[in-house]
Amino acid sequence: MGIRESFRGLDILTLQELSSEQIAFLLGLAMDMKERVDRYEGLLKGKVLAMIFEKPSTRTRVSFEVAMYKLGGYALNLRWDELQLSRGEPIKDTARVLSRYVDAIMARVYKHSDLEELAKYASIPVINGLSDLWHPCQILADLLTIKEVKGGFRGVKLAYIGDGNNVCNTLLVGCSKVGVDVSVACPRGYEPSPRALEWAYENSRISGSKVEVLENPVEAVKNADVVYTDVFISMGFESEAEERRRIFLPRYRVDAKLMSYAKPDAVFMHCLPAHRDEEVDEEVLEGKSSVVWLQAENRLYAQMALLYLILG
Ligand code: CP
Ligand code: NVA
Repeated sequence: MGIRESFRGLDILTLQELSSEQIAFLLGLAMDMKERVDRYEGLLKGKVLAMIFEKPSTRTRVSFEVAMYKLGGYALNLRWDELQLSRGEPIKDTARVLSRYVDAIMARVYKHSDLEELAKYASIPVINGLSDLWHPCQILADLLTIKEVKGGFRGVKLAYIGDGNNVCNTLLVGCSKVGVDVSVACPRGYEPSPRALEWAYENSRISGSKVEVLENPVEAVKNADVVYTDVFISMGFESEAEERRRIFLPRYRVDAKLMSYAKPDAVFMHCLPAHRDEEVDEEVLEGKSSVVWLQAENRLYAQMALLYLILG
């Protein structure tokens, strides 16, 4: 089976499903789609993606819908509270019904186990549009952005500062697959998930990348090519807001001082939405080193490539 065919029908729940070769192939295709989008128009004609949202979304929702449109397919936006799911219809029943209407499901959920249940009972591919544990589509776009601005992955160091959340977990998996060194700095008790670390160390033995988890943001940022942060209070953790602000601030905020420990040409990344003057200073977010808008733009191309490879 060729690399292109190896994607067909895959569920993408964590990113660990893809090999480094598959990620490299997907990113190459995404770059080509970005440069020559007209070549790919209409390739998913007749294909339908159901998008289920249990939480709000701007980028994921719009970029998936536009990706399906550009490829000639159709995307159905399904709010959780408008589905019978909200009245107690089981996920396993929803999965089997949707499988008879559409070609793939993309879902954003609170509990990752709900996504696993959906994938178990659906006979079509299921793509994670963010769960409490993983955000694979974001990290594909992030890797595309790193490739675009740094020219490749070898010898590149990414420092992730803040909460060991879904974005951090998936960055650990994605970076360690492609050979980007990754240094995480987070407060004690807010470390990435044990599963993410286990996979990252396992991947790094093959790719040769370095993986470390520290408490000190300055140590993590030293010599970094990319400084990345995300919110301290992810969707679903609102009740912990006060306690988290007390623990994370001001030490884990990315400001100009923290950026000064990175390489002089280091870029700043954030999956967005950002909370100015909470996890990042306005000055850094809007500054010359920030590539956050490019990163958001790349969601479209990474997902166009993913959809085409899974459904094409
Ligand atoms: N980064 C990201 O997933 O953004 P949305 O929550 O707007 O989809
Ligand atoms: N960690 C954030 C990412 C939002 C795109 C959250 O889960 O809310």
